[in-house]
Amino acid sequence: MRPRVPAAPVYGVAGVRMMRVDRRGFLFGAGVAAAAAAPAMAQETAAPSPPSPSTTGPDWEAVRAQFQTAPDQVNMNAMLIASHPKPVRAAIDQFRRELDWRPVTFLEDNNRRLQGYSRAALARYLGVEARQAALTDSTTMGAALVYSGLKLRPGDEILTTHQDYYVTHESLRHAALRNGATIRRISLYDDIDKVSEPQMVGRLMSAITPRTRVLALTWVHSSTGLKIPLPAISSALAQVNVGRQEADQVLLVVDGVHGFGNQDADMRALGCDVFVAGCHKWLFGPRGTGVIAANAKGWAALRPTIPSFVDSGAWGAWINNGPLPDAADGVLMSPGGFKAFEHVWAIPAAIDFHEKIGRAQIADRTALLADQLKAGLEVMPGVRLITPRERRLSAGIVSFDVAGLSADGTVRALRQRGVVASAAPYAVQHVRLTPSIMNSPAEVDRALAAVREIARA
Ligand SMILES: Cc1ncc(COP(=O)(O)O)c(C=O)c1O
Repeated sequence: MRPRVPAAPVYGVAGVRMMRVDRRGFLFGAGVAAAAAAPAMAQETAAPSPPSPSTTGPDWEAVRAQFQTAPDQVNMNAMLIASHPKPVRAAIDQFRRELDWRPVTFLEDNNRRLQGYSRAALARYLGVEARQAALTDSTTMGAALVYSGLKLRPGDEILTTHQDYYVTHESLRHAALRNGATIRRISLYDDIDKVSEPQMVGRLMSAITPRTRVLALTWVHSSTGLKIPLPAISSALAQVNVGRQEADQVLLVVDGVHGFGNQDADMRALGCDVFVAGCHKWLFGPRGTGVIAANAKGWAALRPTIPSFVDSGAWGAWINNGPLPDAADGVLMSPGGFKAFEHVWAIPAAIDFHEKIGRAQIADRTALLADQLKAGLEVMPGVRLITPRERRLSAGIVSFDVAGLSADGTVRALRQRGVVASAAPYAVQHVRLTPSIMNSPAEVDRALAAVREIARA
């Protein structure tokens, strides 16, 4: 038996000193250093808050001014990697200074509480309880942890679609090699131009067999920009599950990254059991951060893979040779190890930034700019719009092809004209432009003008 260790280890098993921090001050950059017993160092200037939504709506130019993007580029790549808005930059900067100043003691005194804030902020945003959100590094890490952590048995089946992304397919393949589950892929539709909500729901439901335990889907497809009707899918799935024993029910697991931060719907509205996303795309959160959120049914179906450091109880039990936890939740699923802590701790600044602008306002602004872009592309000679026009079936990704040019060639030509687009990393490639709150209607017009010039050439 290992000896009992009297002192608390580095992370939060017991007795870590707590500090009081005014949450609003912390979130918008004024508070951290001051609250953390004022080190003798230069303080970051407090970042101004973005304007609150009013009856006339947010001041979008003021929102855009929170970003420090190069003025010579129209940056329409929120689907890849975020530019940090000012409050996020300020929070990261202050935490970085604290860590540089007193690396060990600042971490020991604050990590447990600050990671708790990050989990709580993400949980609030996703409509789950604080212990139901795990902190990860990315969507990819979240998907891998979830699919490899599912308690599946040989013979169980995971249903996914041909339209899902590499991250889902590869995570599923690795998981199935371990647990012996089988993976089946179906096509959600045959022709994107004719895709419809009843068709997608119908195809998924009729592909479910008595052996299906998991439906693995992607909310907004990064190839076509199609947003699948998750509320309708989850309601239809609930009907399937009504007739099944608990152990045989089908779990809905979603890669939600391309709706996370640009749609006004939380996990309850979507009806999924497990949701994974990165915070470093549409949420404009700290780069290298992500989330897994799950309801009680979702957590009951999962096992952790990477040891958790903070608050899990596992470390204390290990030290004292006590019973180790045999469950999963957001705390136990948050991978341990030393991190870019200044980024992990700055997550609440990103959530607060979104909430202050207004989630509905952000969703509407994203849709408005996407509508403008789609309307222009749809009538442009030599251009084929791929993404559905309807808001019900799309979010912020706008995909298209230019006749006679490869997707890579189009992206190169756009970049030469100062418009940063990307090509879909799929077998069938499309060009993607992703208007977001960073952009303006004038930038959409500039992007359209560049596409027109390329299509004419
Ligand atoms: C659907 C989808 N899921 C996951 C990812 C990867 O996200 P992350 O960088 O957060 O791992 C991408 C693209 O970057 C994607 O398009």
